Amino acid sequence: MVQQDLDYVALNRETWNEDAENWVVAGEKSWAAEVPEWGQWGIGDADVSLLPSTMEGLRAIELGCGTGYVSRWMERRGASVVGIDMAENQLATARRLATEYGSQIEWIHGNAEHVPYPDGSFDFATSEYGAALWCDPYRWVPEAARLLKPGGHLTFLTNSPMVTTCYPLNGAAADYTLVRPYFGQHIFDWSDVEIDPGGVEFNLAISDWFSLFRTSGLEVLDFRELQAPETATGIPFAVPAEWAKRYPSEIVWKLRKSG
Ligand SMILES: C[S@@+](CC[C@H](N)C(=O)[O-])C[C@H]1O[C@@H](n2cnc3c(N)ncnc32)[C@H](O)[C@@H]1O
Repeated sequence: MVQQDLDYVALNRETWNEDAENWVVAGEKSWAAEVPEWGQWGIGDADVSLLPSTMEGLRAIELGCGTGYVSRWMERRGASVVGIDMAENQLATARRLATEYGSQIEWIHGNAEHVPYPDGSFDFATSEYGAALWCDPYRWVPEAARLLKPGGHLTFLTNSPMVTTCYPLNGAAADYTLVRPYFGQHIFDWSDVEIDPGGVEFNLAISDWFSLFRTSGLEVLDFRELQAPETATGIPFAVPAEWAKRYPSEIVWKLRKSG
């Protein structure tokens, strides 16, 4: 599915280890948040939530947990939680905050495309810009489905496959020109771009996401395209707020494992 010579897992691990210090403050703020806010526009939990309002008794996993705040939100709603991430420096922040908050979350250092848990171990799996963006969908989605019990839920939030078509080739912020093909999109290698080089990201055309869910045994419960609120400003994560008020820059999927 991916160019054989591109070791995107190693590249992303290095990128995230180097960048981890820049995520500490945001992680601390989100651990302290009483009510979750989602995605790059901080959309309120009442408008879009990746989590059920109560998770009492559920066994949950966050795939690509970073500083672990989504894991914490799940724990606060009653779930027993596992967070997996392959950047040890991100996990160091998660572990420190977990100690400060008296959290019982289990942290795993590893690749979310191959989770060391048996089939059907979880009731719920989620990712906010973790595996959802940085793992190959053809690997992590079937893996998430494998980890779920029949009837278990997978939710995730990532970039829209529309904004990816408007990313200039040099790494500049999205603009109003369709630069890249929509159909067949899969891998976005930012390691060698002129402006703000980074790691390797993934996305699919909406019809390809649907097809992948079908072959992975996941049924779609909800699909949302997120619009930046009127109050949004600036160009966070290379998406101008004005762009994201007119076009969807982020998407949310809610899925259920068949059976
Ligand atoms: C933007 S963070 C998302 C997590 C969380 N929502 C946050 O903002 O802290 C992306 C995370 O995905 C992790 N990641 C990237 N590739 C991964 C992989 N193959 N397996 C596990 N984690 C991965 C990175 O290490 C990083 O911590």
